[in-house]
Amino acid sequence: MNAFAHDLCAGLAQAPRRVSPKWLYDERGSELFEQICALPEYYPTRTEIGLLSRCGREIAAQIGAGATIVDFGAGSLRKAQALVEWLVRPAAYVPIDISGSFLEQAADSAEGRLASLPLHPVVADFTNPASVPELGAADRRVGFYPGSSIGNFEPADVATWLAGVRGRLGGGLLVGVDLIKSPERLYAAYNDEAGVTAAFNLNLLVRANREAGADFDPSLWAHTAFYNPPKRRVEMHLVSMHDQEVHIGVHGFRFALGDSIHTECSYKYTVEGFHRLAGEAGWSAEQVWVDPEGLFSLHWLVPRAD
Ligand code: AVJ
Repeated sequence: MNAFAHDLCAGLAQAPRRVSPKWLYDERGSELFEQICALPEYYPTRTEIGLLSRCGREIAAQIGAGATIVDFGAGSLRKAQALVEWLVRPAAYVPIDISGSFLEQAADSAEGRLASLPLHPVVADFTNPASVPELGAADRRVGFYPGSSIGNFEPADVATWLAGVRGRLGGGLLVGVDLIKSPERLYAAYNDEAGVTAAFNLNLLVRANREAGADFDPSLWAHTAFYNPPKRRVEMHLVSMHDQEVHIGVHGFRFALGDSIHTECSYKYTVEGFHRLAGEAGWSAEQVWVDPEGLFSLHWLVPRAD
């Protein structure tokens, strides 16, 4: 059994049933996510890029000269490009991604200033802090974690990750965090009119059939996503529209009409709430940039000397 099939079986045996969101990103899933980023309802991507270009000078002043940028969001190079344009004599660019072929493609498509930097791609799962390479002692290592992908972690795991990378990012960390806002706005962002987010979610079942030996009938499943206020997170689920049995290899799983598989959590924060979390993990929040509508935040954190 491969890792995906193994994870899928383990997650479907739990109550509530769930699957890690990392399996959403096969080739088709990554393509659909790129489309999500351009949707009129999906505000995070364009808001964050807007902040990077509008506040670039201030951000660059905090990062300082000669930084080696360790990118945890190398998925699309656009944000790194927007950041690097502003930096003073950046030293190198270190994108970390689980997909080697993706990094190769990214290296080929780098433009502008980013393309002129020494490139040290790292194929690794950056949720493990040990994946951050120990560069030379003289390097000024600055982390860049855009896209609010940190929202996929449970808050307790965010603290663990922040504490784990602290010793390897001596220069600081620039991190994008999506903010709590009206449930209607959040609902729209994860339930777009064009149905791209639904296709992104349902693609998990198509991938499971192809790669994990499953026999899902995607037409018997529905996308649903909603904001859960007490948990401060958007939840994405696949809901069974029938009583049915699905197989993964030799394992059978029964679903009643209305049963769900939880496929993603996207935690939202207040600026203060995120600062508290970072503080607990040994970081000091030095500056925050928020768009005029209060939709999205970029935080500059430095390791606290204690
Ligand atoms: C890539 C995790 C930041 O949570 O907004 C977009 C993924 N899921 N629409 C998010 C996603 C549905 C996205 N992150």
